[in-house]
Amino acid sequence: MYEILAKEDLAPVTKLYEVRAPAVARKAQPGQFVIVRLSQEGERIPLTIADYDRERGTITLVVQEVGKTTMEMGTLSVGDQLASFTGPLGLPSEIKNYGTVLCVGGGVGIAPIYPIARDLKEAGSTVVSIIGARNKDLLFWEDKMRTVSDELIVCTDDGSYARKALVTIPLKEMLESGRPIEHIWAIGPAIMMKFCALTTQPFGVHTVVSLNSIMVDGTGMCGACRVEVGGQTRFVCVDGPEFDAHQVDWDQLLARQRIYPEQEKLAVEIWQHQHRCDG
Ligand code: FES
Repeated sequence: MYEILAKEDLAPVTKLYEVRAPAVARKAQPGQFVIVRLSQEGERIPLTIADYDRERGTITLVVQEVGKTTMEMGTLSVGDQLASFTGPLGLPSEIKNYGTVLCVGGGVGIAPIYPIARDLKEAGSTVVSIIGARNKDLLFWEDKMRTVSDELIVCTDDGSYARKALVTIPLKEMLESGRPIEHIWAIGPAIMMKFCALTTQPFGVHTVVSLNSIMVDGTGMCGACRVEVGGQTRFVCVDGPEFDAHQVDWDQLLARQRIYPEQEKLAVEIWQHQHRCDG
């Protein structure tokens, strides 16, 4: 069993969990993910690793409550146990000294971009980060991002904090400035990553995204997570989750993310009903 050692509200429906998982923490690297089950009969949910502490043997996850299992996870407390915690899964980010890199994190994507930015900076890269959220309440880890970035640009869609802009605006300005940018990471909602890809493509700067497709086994066997990249079928769980943003078939990815809206809605309604009855 995997004990929750710390829990923190980062935003109204976004929570941080620090989980004791020494074997996973020993090997975890930026860019990888875990698959979690709350109970033995529970749904398997993929969650990107936001941080790890090898000495304490812990993994930090930042979870947005978007479905039945993530909402149920939100009811757990410090001291509760997760039934399974499989990982680290997927390929790690390719970290090295690139020169100047841009790290773009949108919404809950700020969490996985953090360890990437940190390790890029440790490897000698100059890290310019852009983080954004829909509004001030949804923004988190500004201080943490500042500590691992040579420059940090913060924006909100509605202007309730910092600059009023989508992250693609400062991204485009940075590229138009002519400043040499060698590499870009962009992580966030699929639609944000799609528009980051469209923004950077004309400038020809290699751009990496971390895809969040539907997953079941997480080991390359079920095919649930398949995406088209460069005209080929790839599995996000074993070939990714990071891919060349300019090669991803974004329309197919977005369509596949919307395959089960009725089932997801029903699962939430049933769980909320049971949760109210139990409470
Ligand atoms: S989740 Fe089953 S193949 Fe990737």
